Amino acid sequence: MDQARITDIVQNWMIPTAEGAYMAGLETKPVIVSAKGSTMTDANGKTYLDFQSGQMGAALGHNHPTIAKSIRHSLETIVHSSNQMLNGPRLELHEKLGRIAAPLTRSLFLVSGSDSIEGTVDLARKATGGTEILGLHDSLHGSTSFVSRSLSFGWNRSKHTVVAPATSSILTPYCYRCPLKMTFPGCGYQCLSASMELADANFAGKPAAAIAEPILSAGGLITPPPGYFVALKKACAERGMLLIFDEAQTGLGKTGKMFAWQHEGVTPDIMALSKHFGGGLPISAVCTTTEVAGRAVANGFFATRSHATDPILCAAGAASLDVIIDEDLCGRAAAIEKRMKTAFTAMQKDVPQVGDIRGRGVLLGVEIVEDPETRVPANRKAKFIERRCLERGLIIQTRGSHGRANVIRFVPPMSTSDAEIDQGLQIFDEVLREAVGRNDL
Ligand SMILES: Cc1ncc(COP(=O)(O)O)c(C=O)c1O
Repeated sequence: MDQARITDIVQNWMIPTAEGAYMAGLETKPVIVSAKGSTMTDANGKTYLDFQSGQMGAALGHNHPTIAKSIRHSLETIVHSSNQMLNGPRLELHEKLGRIAAPLTRSLFLVSGSDSIEGTVDLARKATGGTEILGLHDSLHGSTSFVSRSLSFGWNRSKHTVVAPATSSILTPYCYRCPLKMTFPGCGYQCLSASMELADANFAGKPAAAIAEPILSAGGLITPPPGYFVALKKACAERGMLLIFDEAQTGLGKTGKMFAWQHEGVTPDIMALSKHFGGGLPISAVCTTTEVAGRAVANGFFATRSHATDPILCAAGAASLDVIIDEDLCGRAAAIEKRMKTAFTAMQKDVPQVGDIRGRGVLLGVEIVEDPETRVPANRKAKFIERRCLERGLIIQTRGSHGRANVIRFVPPMSTSDAEIDQGLQIFDEVLREAVGRNDL
């Protein structure tokens, strides 16, 4: 496809929607035609290391052969089925997921990540009889209808004319930029106690739940300090609220454990899964305990989507769980974290504009600042790094919220080889040095 045609289609035939910020300049971006493992190839035959795992849906590696085999099998047997019926892959997936997510042994399947957030919120409301939902103020939980986008306090919430009632925010425990200008651990989680005091004053009805990403990915890879989630769960329990973890980005191996809550010493009451759950196909899940599920269903909870239990999606989900376990992708994610953080720490010694390094497993962030003392976000330098890395064949993204877009996010597939990791790090290192050396940025 020639450049004029690409430009025409982007400018005249696409709706420049909520993704506007990313759509800008799309006509100059590569047209991807194929992908395999950690690489993608564009229409000109140029290959890229995909350190974003697609839109995070390819964290097992693009076109994983086990997933491809499962999809082919479904095409030859059954693709779609009524959600009023049972099917083999659906049954198998409930059991497999329940065993690895115990004590959150009960699951239901939906289609997108946003869908699963709606499901968790409905479930919590039915289980508690409450309505009010709290979310961290740098969060992203999706963009469908009212609930998930209303709880996305760090992402375009202000662009929605109407937001869902009974959704409000609490302070993100962002220690590198503490909203209260305090220091951990001396702060004693003041951000949480002050937030809950305010929430208690604001609640118009009975509270139902707090929702959080264990690592706030789009918000800038913000990794809450140790013990924060234990304290949040206690604060929830004191108010009869449930704790929901949105593990869209952190779940299923990416942080080096099957679920990020296994790092935190706390089990959420409800968990949402999506992204690479279907190995690249869209399927999401809501998981909870028998007790919470029982209470919710007794109060009339239901959630259903036309495609949520399609055999092709459920079979891909079951295959992706097999791949994560059989190939020890948790172990691989932990090894990649070590390799990448060691490299980032070495870069930081030479380049003080590397302000902070954080995240877990294959979900890592490097915060670029103008100066390590002032910590002024270096948005322009970060954007330059993203663009130049793309030109050099490395796909990464800038992330951050509330005016900050200075965190470089790295999400290589868990199957990425050491040689590919080193190749990506080399490109990033060279581009980083170029960015900080330029006075015009
Ligand atoms: C943490 C988190 N939750 C939910 C979603 C929404 O997922 P989807 O785009 O599949 O609706 C996203 C999307 O990026 C996400 O990052």
